[in-house]
Amino acid sequence: MPSVMFICLGNICRSPAAENMLRHMAEKEGYTDLVVDSCGMGDWHLGASPDKRMTDASMTRGIPMRGRAKLFQLDFFEKFDYIFVVDNEILHRLYHHADTPAKKAKLKLITEFSEVYKGEEIPDPFYRGEEGFEHVLDMLEDSCRGILEHLYPKS
Ligand code: 4NP
Repeated sequence: MPSVMFICLGNICRSPAAENMLRHMAEKEGYTDLVVDSCGMGDWHLGASPDKRMTDASMTRGIPMRGRAKLFQLDFFEKFDYIFVVDNEILHRLYHHADTPAKKAKLKLITEFSEVYKGEEIPDPFYRGEEGFEHVLDMLEDSCRGILEHLYPKS
């Protein structure tokens, strides 16, 4: 039963979009044992639903978004197999909290397994226009496809 945690800043745009997208893709492929969740590093939006602009953009691609914003907790390092983060700043912050090599090994950029965007940061769309949200979803689509192939190798 693989488990994946996605982390961004507010947990209302990028990480919930990644969470719902990966879950949607996994269910479509019949991978029903995958555990997916998301959280944020900041507490500005705790308890809030995902941003409407992100929800609308995701829905256009056939993926409804649900969830409520919550904060990162240290025990997520134990509870999840993979901790995927949106950018290098969060990666470095969490790296300091990962106090064993096994925990450090769980930390990766969301784009780690992407063919097109590997190593890139997922840009913050919060203060951007519609285009920003579409770009985030393009990046997440390719990244989630790669994550799924990594978790469930075909041959
Ligand atoms: P997210 O986007 O990290 O993708 O959820 C943001 C949401 C809110 C803020 C920043 C980024 N904010 O500053 O409130």
